[in-house]
Amino acid sequence: MNIYGLGGKVAVITGGASGIGRACAHTLARSGADISIWDLDQGALDLVLKELEDYDYRLHSAVVDVSDSAAVDSAMQDVVDTLGHVDITVANAGIGGAAASSGDYSDDDWHRVIGINLDGVFYTQRAAIRAMRQSGRGGSIVNMASVLGDVGFASASAYTAAKHGVVGLTQAAAWEHAVDGIRINAVGPGFIRTPLLAKNLDEAALAFLATQHALQRLGEPHEVAELVAWLASDAASFATGTFYPIDGGYLAR
Ligand SMILES: NC(=O)c1ccc[n+]([C@@H]2O[C@H](COP(=O)([O-])OP(=O)(O)OC[C@H]3O[C@@H](n4cnc5c(N)ncnc54)[C@H](O)[C@@H]3O)[C@@H](O)[C@H]2O)c1
Repeated sequence: MNIYGLGGKVAVITGGASGIGRACAHTLARSGADISIWDLDQGALDLVLKELEDYDYRLHSAVVDVSDSAAVDSAMQDVVDTLGHVDITVANAGIGGAAASSGDYSDDDWHRVIGINLDGVFYTQRAAIRAMRQSGRGGSIVNMASVLGDVGFASASAYTAAKHGVVGLTQAAAWEHAVDGIRINAVGPGFIRTPLLAKNLDEAALAFLATQHALQRLGEPHEVAELVAWLASDAASFATGTFYPIDGGYLAR
């Protein structure tokens, strides 16, 4: 059902081949947006493109490592050249990173997480701002933070630092680019059942994490995508510079 009214808008979603990004692609497409999904390999993108064909809007994909600023700039230009403009960008690509305490975190592990989860959001947001300013149409940028953009989590210092950075980046950029008609917000999912979690945690750890949410379960990707779609839409016209948890009550204790 098209409840967000995104017809005529073009949406870029990074990390669009899996988990929350894939769910965002579906929800935004169902709401009428043309979609560009970016990810690391074409095979994974092709599977999601096939699913999206049902919606009958224009589709585009790009193989992009969001930690490479030149690749991000070139992909954004390709979206503009192919689909005409960019109205919505969901800077979602991210990794969990190594699990180790701060005293033992290696330089390489630190830089990898910061490079994708913070630098990558900055590069994507910057490219989106430039494209939106150039079109003169304004737009909405949604940066994927986490509940760990608000509180800490043992053994995930780089991830927690990156997600706090995403929230700060969002707040500063919202003030800078309101004048351009660009709204910029951050979303803070609780623990969501995606390949990212499955890769890093066993079933016992997932069951424990479920108990840390008031709703006593993990979230589903489509539940995050609903918030992203609202923020992307004109219904959220007074929303900017804000961190929106979507967390089953994780932060409420
Ligand atoms: N799953 C959760 O519990 C949870 C909670 C809070 C926030 N998040 C955030 O949501 C976002 C999506 O996570 P997910 O759970 O859907 O994970 P996921 O692993 O299912 O999907 C992430 C996608 O990003 C892609 N990606 C990774 N590195 C990339 C890079 N350098 N360039 C381009 N694409 C890259 C991956 O290939 C993958 O397709 C991440 O930013 C994550 O930190 C997830």
